[in-house]
Amino acid sequence: MPILIINIKEIVQVEEKPQMMVAGKSMSALKTIKNGWLLIEENRIKDFGKMPFPDTESGNSEYEIIDAEGKMVFPSFCDSHTHLVYAGSREIEYVDKIKGLSYEEIAKRGGGILNSARRLHDASEDELVEQALHRLNEIMMFGTGAVEIKSGYGLTFEDELKMLRVIRKLKKLSPLTIVPTFLGAHAVPAAFKGRQGEFVEMVINEMIPMVAAEELADYIDVFCDRGFFTVHETDCILNAGMKYGMRAKIHANELDFSGGIQVGVKYNALSVDHLEFTDEKEIETLLGSETMPTVLPGAAFFLEMVCAPVRRMIDAGLPVAMASDFNPGSSPSGNMQFILSLACIKYRMLPEEAIHAVTINSAYAMGLSSGYGSIARGKIANLFITVPIPSYSFMPYAYGSNKVETVILNGKVINSDSLR
Ligand code: NIG
Ligand code: FE
Repeated sequence: MPILIINIKEIVQVEEKPQMMVAGKSMSALKTIKNGWLLIEENRIKDFGKMPFPDTESGNSEYEIIDAEGKMVFPSFCDSHTHLVYAGSREIEYVDKIKGLSYEEIAKRGGGILNSARRLHDASEDELVEQALHRLNEIMMFGTGAVEIKSGYGLTFEDELKMLRVIRKLKKLSPLTIVPTFLGAHAVPAAFKGRQGEFVEMVINEMIPMVAAEELADYIDVFCDRGFFTVHETDCILNAGMKYGMRAKIHANELDFSGGIQVGVKYNALSVDHLEFTDEKEIETLLGSETMPTVLPGAAFFLEMVCAPVRRMIDAGLPVAMASDFNPGSSPSGNMQFILSLACIKYRMLPEEAIHAVTINSAYAMGLSSGYGSIARGKIANLFITVPIPSYSFMPYAYGSNKVETVILNGKVINSDSLR
């Protein structure tokens, strides 16, 4: 039965003419409808407008009616960068960090990504699915509707495939829209210590062809940064990935001016992510490209890093997307409401800019913006109804509490009690 939401205090991020992304000054112009209604048919947004609802709208007068008096409707958040398939957790490293060790020092001691790789190796596919489903259910009830998930804790041929197969199973089991990315070059595994070049060869000659043959990933990622993979290695891996139809979406400039942004743009990457080390030269490179600069405030917060210069990027006319980076080492949370708050508090984004960053621009950064990321006729009905809130700025302002009351994905109300 079609769903009709009535008496909506404000429908947020409405698009009459859908755009693929929103850049520069336009990020501060958020379109909304006050006192609105919204009609969902099958899995799509059929129509919306100002109250009262004209009953001629549909031949069918039978609706499931939801009265949203005092509440707002937002498009579901899009989270374009996560590593949420992992085994166990790493709070021991977190305590080491409190005691003074840096992320790089923890990694050098066999902690960090290699620690997660060992745990993932020991976990079965079923265990990984179970743990990841729990995380997916949690982020869903915080308002996320589409999420990218990377491999990268496998680091061997078998374990990378295992991770990607887990992601494929999750796609079938979860109502969330899931986009898989192959991140074979996340770290050099212990077995290849001192033989980084050979590992890169293996990624290129063995892993990429197999991932492509099994159609396990839409995108390819490399951790292009100081102490991880060089620009030259990244270039070779992206080149190989492209030949197999996987567009780049890379980790760049988190730890240094790594040249990652430039090599990403060279390969027309869909996004370059992190970007703490970004200057005028990098901004210049991004301007005029089709690459979405993606900032991960959760990781910068958790690791106490400098913030990416988001204000300068937007003022220069760039779009900015924001994602959670949900992972056990640098951002053990996928709560996009908190990302929205960090965007405003730490990056001085206006609530309007931040909302664009976590919806349409993040949808673009996973190739989904034609069907997700805004309230537009014909788009997939992925949206949420808030608890009663005074204004949309209350969303980033009241950090820490869950302001999402009802989740609708693919046109269906999600009942949190029935989730596996
Ligand atoms: O995005 N920067 C690289 N990778 C992850 C961290 C992964 C981990 O520490 O397990 C990130 O922050
Ligand atoms: Fe990451």
